[in-house]
Amino acid sequence: DALTRPKDLLDFSAYGPKEVESLLLLAEGLKRERYRGEDLKGRVLALLFEKPSLRTRTTLEVAMLHLGGHALYLDQKQVGIGEREPVRDVAKNLERFVEGIAARVYRHETVEALARHARIPVVNALSDRAHPLQALADLLTLKEAFGGLSGLEVAWVGDGNNVLHSLLEVAPLVGLRVRVATPRGYEPDPSLLRRAGALLTHDPKEAAFGAHALYTDVWTSMGQEEERERRLRDFQGFQVNGELLALLHPQGLFLHCLPAHYGEETTEEAVHGPRSRVFDQAENRLHTAKAVLLALLG
Ligand code: CP
Ligand code: NVA
Repeated sequence: DALTRPKDLLDFSAYGPKEVESLLLLAEGLKRERYRGEDLKGRVLALLFEKPSLRTRTTLEVAMLHLGGHALYLDQKQVGIGEREPVRDVAKNLERFVEGIAARVYRHETVEALARHARIPVVNALSDRAHPLQALADLLTLKEAFGGLSGLEVAWVGDGNNVLHSLLEVAPLVGLRVRVATPRGYEPDPSLLRRAGALLTHDPKEAAFGAHALYTDVWTSMGQEEERERRLRDFQGFQVNGELLALLHPQGLFLHCLPAHYGEETTEEAVHGPRSRVFDQAENRLHTAKAVLLALLG
């Protein structure tokens, strides 16, 4: 309700089962109606992106358009957040101009500072720690495929990164069970693993066996490019391909947030194969983005 509604979406720490469930129900309704309306008429969302994007930028822009509002893409080269001027000053200017900020940043502290200093809602459009918009689309995709979320077993094979962190954070709120297989040294935040009650292994097959979904992401995230050679060596044996997918539950699905680095964490056959729900995930970024924007800016 309005009194307890979180101001921002930085991660899921301020969200409970009720908030997540209502965002998913809202997204399902918006998807069914192929919703276009005027709910955010005249409202403007600033997109502050330090890194490239296809899905996140496009879905936020299209969502604002479908809701009757507008999105304003502010290139980091122009704004220079933390460089041309401090984060706090950017926040205290933008709150005078627009009704919300979506920020894609290198350091999670940057979205936290934006949220602290701006009186308007701030949405994390991906940081080094979390990618909450992605997790909502993943939940919607699994819910549609299986008719519910509680009790589903999702295996994560690969890097213990931002996308996994958000999945681990929402999992206990919806009853998802997560099994994680990373190489040694690439494990996710142990407190998120613990709260999710997730299984941790260093064996991809152990994680994949019988799972309802197998999820992976790039081995080298944006901002880690100089570690690429070492990561390529350390992640040998962690590729999600036909052989690993064959170990899933008979109805088991393949998930990937995209973009994919083919030949590294996965193959074109897996992403375009019969088990893949990767493009449903991508589409669901739009419907879940609409739900988030309506909830925070509406
Ligand atoms: N999955 C995702 O966030 O994609 P983009 O980096 O293209 O936004
Ligand atoms: N882990 C990846 C996700 C991209 C959507 C990255 O941070 O680059």
